Amino acid sequence: MWKSISAAAPDSIFGLTEAFKQDSNPNKVNLGAGVYKDNRGVTPILDCVKEAERRLLDEEQTKSYLPISGDPLYTSCVQQLLFGEGSEVISSSRAVTAHAPGGTGALRIGGELIQKFNPGATMWISFPTWANHNGIFGAARFNLKSYPYYNSDTKGLNYDELIATLKQVPAGDVVLLHGCCHNPTGVDLNKEQWSEVAALASERGWIGFLDFAYQGFGDSVDGDRISVEAFAATGADFFVASSFSKNFGLYNERTGAITVVSPSGQEAAVAKSHLDLTVRVCYSNPPAHGGLIVKTVLSDPDLEQNWRRQLEQMCKRIISMRSALVEGLASRGVDGDFSYIKEQRGMFSFSGLSDETVAWLKANKGIYVVGGGRINVAGLTTGNIDYVCDSIAEALKS
Ligand code: LMR
Repeated sequence: MWKSISAAAPDSIFGLTEAFKQDSNPNKVNLGAGVYKDNRGVTPILDCVKEAERRLLDEEQTKSYLPISGDPLYTSCVQQLLFGEGSEVISSSRAVTAHAPGGTGALRIGGELIQKFNPGATMWISFPTWANHNGIFGAARFNLKSYPYYNSDTKGLNYDELIATLKQVPAGDVVLLHGCCHNPTGVDLNKEQWSEVAALASERGWIGFLDFAYQGFGDSVDGDRISVEAFAATGADFFVASSFSKNFGLYNERTGAITVVSPSGQEAAVAKSHLDLTVRVCYSNPPAHGGLIVKTVLSDPDLEQNWRRQLEQMCKRIISMRSALVEGLASRGVDGDFSYIKEQRGMFSFSGLSDETVAWLKANKGIYVVGGGRINVAGLTTGNIDYVCDSIAEALKS
């Protein structure tokens, strides 16, 4: 079967993790995949997660199947986080949620659902974007187009061109937006800009699809939902793919959700029936463990407080490493102003390093950065920051 087929290229993000593992350089540093690490370079299991697991070990009674869309308490916790206390979307039952295997699973299920009823639709994706977006929606048979997002001269948002393009998107097409902490740029829309974009969606009749994988890494868990709130306020249809990989550190538990918001509760019930059918033919029903952890934490006020505190600590460490990187480069006399790295939000810094520099750092220093120059700031520690800054300074001078 495979004789005349050539091998596929390694994944542009996880392929780096594999190459990193094989690298014998004792100083190697992995700044590739978006995984939080503490100052020891370890991806920790949060205390609240450990405590929830202890409780589950004692209390869990069965490993029987979950409902197709997952545990109802889990999906209700997801909606509380997405829309906030007292949200009209929740009280009028306009949202339906299915537990999906991670943010990727959520994006794909949402894509499959849209494709079933809107087969000619184009998916509009920001340029640049997360490496997997084009793959996911291409595999879900969308036509793919990009919209301008980042201005590499100002290192900020290309808002005028973004809006000009979104004004041309035809009704029925879908626009994928990063709900917060844009990956890879770390550059986000502000509240007014979100309102303008969401209003455009309902005026023009295109569908917003928010990829919301980093809630809590921008301003705060509550502050980051301005994107969701802007779309909710329009009363139009939209989709949200969310994930607990990053904010709960549940990377390998594949714990995400796809939420479909409709103009009315009646339409939402119809959407739910088709969401269930879509899940059923893809993976039947979700894996339980990660969702059980999340619902245990979020339905216990003490554990929830503990989670919010730990998430804030993760963010603070990332912010301190942003400053250390900017100051480290400046103190080594590296040409240019890197202060924009401090303004970027989330786990990543769109560093401005060229692909040549990225390749040089990997080959000569064992420093792994995603093509396009995306640095996982959470991979920097007080132990490796000098080595990383020395290496970047050497790369840019050579
Ligand atoms: C990333 O962007 O590095 C993470 O979201 C991991 C992934 O799935 O690519």
